[in-house]
Amino acid sequence: MNASAKSNAVHRFVGIPTAPPDSILGLTEAFLADKNPSKMNLSVGVYKDASGQTPILKCVKEAERRLIENEATKGYLSIDGLPDYREQVRSLVFGDSLDAGRVAILQTPGGTGALRVAADFIVAQLSPTRIWMPSPTWANHPAIFAAAGLASETYRYLGSDRTSFDLAGMLEDLSEKTKPGDAVLLHACCHNPTGVDPTPEDWKAIAKTVAERQLIPLIDFAYQGFGDGIEQDKTGLNTILEAVDEAIVCNSFSKNFGLYSERVGSVCLIAADAETTKAAHSQLKTIVRTNYSNPPRHGGAIVATVLQDAELTKLWQQEVDEMRERIDALRQQFVETMKNTGSGHDFSFLLKQKGMFSFSGLTPMQVDELKSKHGIYIVGSGRINVAGMSEDKMDSLCQAVASVL
Ligand code: LMR
Repeated sequence: MNASAKSNAVHRFVGIPTAPPDSILGLTEAFLADKNPSKMNLSVGVYKDASGQTPILKCVKEAERRLIENEATKGYLSIDGLPDYREQVRSLVFGDSLDAGRVAILQTPGGTGALRVAADFIVAQLSPTRIWMPSPTWANHPAIFAAAGLASETYRYLGSDRTSFDLAGMLEDLSEKTKPGDAVLLHACCHNPTGVDPTPEDWKAIAKTVAERQLIPLIDFAYQGFGDGIEQDKTGLNTILEAVDEAIVCNSFSKNFGLYSERVGSVCLIAADAETTKAAHSQLKTIVRTNYSNPPRHGGAIVATVLQDAELTKLWQQEVDEMRERIDALRQQFVETMKNTGSGHDFSFLLKQKGMFSFSGLTPMQVDELKSKHGIYIVGSGRINVAGMSEDKMDSLCQAVASVL
């Protein structure tokens, strides 16, 4: 390159505006830069044990040991991922309730990857359509849909008390505002960010409306095992799948296998017959090929190794139960400790919430004050990651919360 050509260069990148930090992961960046020695990160949904570590599950360690010993290649996976993994997802998520020929399963980089593939598929194959999301929902849902060019709308989810499920509002919105063929986003369990879940009876009413309005359910199943149990948490999913022939399910093993950084999840498409399933599967593969080509192996191989082995599966189930029970105990301890602060604010509604998160009702101003004065990071909506709390820091956490009320 001669010097004069370079001096004439026009810098097209100049003037690109800085994007705002991510409303969840951006907080961890700010947390890491915070010098406050007593800081606490209760923003991103990551489980921590009593020592404040995000542990590698014992079943995962053992599966990795076996994998390292036996691994023979680093060759590409096929576009839809490891066959053994896909088979284990089919059996874990759908059991025998669905004819295997009606389900196309593709291994994806995490639940987020699955959602993006699903959104791209809806846009490419079902357009024009739009997706109805609960209000509130995980902050990344609308962003993923917008990035895929999928228009989104919201339906009512929380009651005016901001602590209970508004079944009537949801059904009214889905019945009166949607058009046949619209997609509807449903959180299978452990609703993110509220932890407020429909009851089994509520699910029946939701399934009936979804079927009557001919909506396409997109079911986000990121927390299997963190609500009531691995099998119990399928109640909503099963109820919906009994009522409709077509659906898309996105699952994730970030939380229940602790495989956050391995990025392992799946997009599962259920169609009315095997021929349609095959065609849809081929289209999903095209979407993957033009995006990330094929998924990473390691996380999927871990999940397959564990779920193919009866002993390791038992160990995994125990470890999921332990995480869920510890989160429930922390929730209880938080409510009790808040009571003892004498703030007069009753947090017992948190005990009805399920999963990693609690929707605390704290306002954006209170959330800001917790961060600036106490180094406590929670999401702007007031969502607290209960799974990030610790027994030994509960007093200082609750004192800080009481001081901003
Ligand atoms: C969360 O909601 O905190 C998690 O699902 C992690 C993420 O990617 O946002």
